[in-house]
This record gives sequence, C-alpha cells and structure tokens, in this order.
Amino acid sequence: MKNIAVLVSGGGTNLQALIDAEKRGEIKNGKINCVISSNPDAYALKRAQNNSIHTEVIRRKDYARFDDYDKALTELLQSRNADLVVLAGFMTILGSRVISTFKNKIINIHPSLIPSFCGEGFYGLRVHEAALAKGVKVTGATAHFVNEVCDGGPIIIQKAVEIKNGDTPQVLQKRVMEQAEWNILPKAVSLFCDDKIIIKNNITEIID
Ligand code: GAR
Repeated sequence: MKNIAVLVSGGGTNLQALIDAEKRGEIKNGKINCVISSNPDAYALKRAQNNSIHTEVIRRKDYARFDDYDKALTELLQSRNADLVVLAGFMTILGSRVISTFKNKIINIHPSLIPSFCGEGFYGLRVHEAALAKGVKVTGATAHFVNEVCDGGPIIIQKAVEIKNGDTPQVLQKRVMEQAEWNILPKAVSLFCDDKIIIKNNITEIID
C-alpha cells in the first residue's frame, strides 16, 4: 500500500475527488495519509479533517530562504513516508530538492491540455481566462508528473472539454473540473499506485 501525500492551497475539490475515489475502492493500492497546505485557511484542510486525515501547514513566507523552505517540505514529506505526492491545486512552486527526492513520484493536475496554457503564471482561473482570450474551442485537463520544467513533466492522462458560447472563466473552470479533473486525477493516482505507469524519455506508457 502506497502512502499518498496531497498538497493543497485552496478549495480542495480535487482532494475531495481523491478522497471519494479512495472510499469507493478505486485506489486499491494507495491511501491518503496526509494533506499539506500552503495556506492555513484553505477549505481543503477542513475536507481532510472531516475525513480524519492528518493535516500539516507549511508556508513559504515562514522561511527566509527558498532553499530552507524546499528542505523543510522535503523533510516533512519524508517524515510522512510519502510514496506519492499529489499536487491538487497547490499554488507554491516546488524546489529542486523536493523534485529530485521524489523524482517521478509527484503528480500534478493542470486545468488545460498541456502544452497549451501552461507554464509560469498559468494557474487557477488565469488558465481559463487565457483559453477564452485565445478563442480555442476545446480545452481540458492534464494529469502529469512534475519535473524541473514548470508543467513540463511526462503526461499521464488528458481529457478534452468543450468550450461553449458565453463561457466565463468561472463557468469554464467548473466544467473542466467536473468533466475532466475530478475524473483523471484519481485515475492517474490509481495507475501509479498499481505500478502501471512506465516512463521512457519523458513519455509515459500505461500498462494494461
Ligand atoms: C484546479 O482547477 C487545479 O487544476 C488548478 O487549481 C484548481 C484547484 O482547485 N491547478 C493549477 O492551476 C496548477 N497550475 P481545487 O483546490 O478545488 O482542487
């Protein structure tokens, strides 16, 4: 059984999707054993507590140097024996220590079809604002591994979502969450916990 640490910053609907999937028995070989928030007021913390999941808060601003923050987060994850780290709406950039310590063991959910609308500055509602400003007709979500390139790690699963006339960033965000994110993130986590993802040359292959 793999220990899953989920990193959050806000509402935590993706965390909730993971909790619900685990409860339905859809993550057979993994268990969420802690939720770590960058924000002490994140509603995601309440969701964890409602489900008796251990919580921690780690704030970038409590560390003078980024390296110290990076080290503290790495040590916190190690102290929880994390086998998999899931970024579920985590809005703080990860440092090189945590990324190298958990190489190919960090999964992020991003609210677009990478490589569109991703990279530095593309997070949360901004991603959907950019998609609408460009006028694309299809967007979606991507579950991918995290490496040192922002949103550049190996892609695990993607799901497309239609853009409709009159969409606002908020309406589109909700549709992308409902139709894509809450579905593909638990699937990617389950595949990882079942050891069904192979990575070669930055490309994944899912074993049937
Ligand atoms: C989600 O849409 C997630 O894909 C996005 O933030 C939202 C968090 O919502 N993440 C990023 O933009 C990361 N670059 P949640 O707290 O309700 O899961």
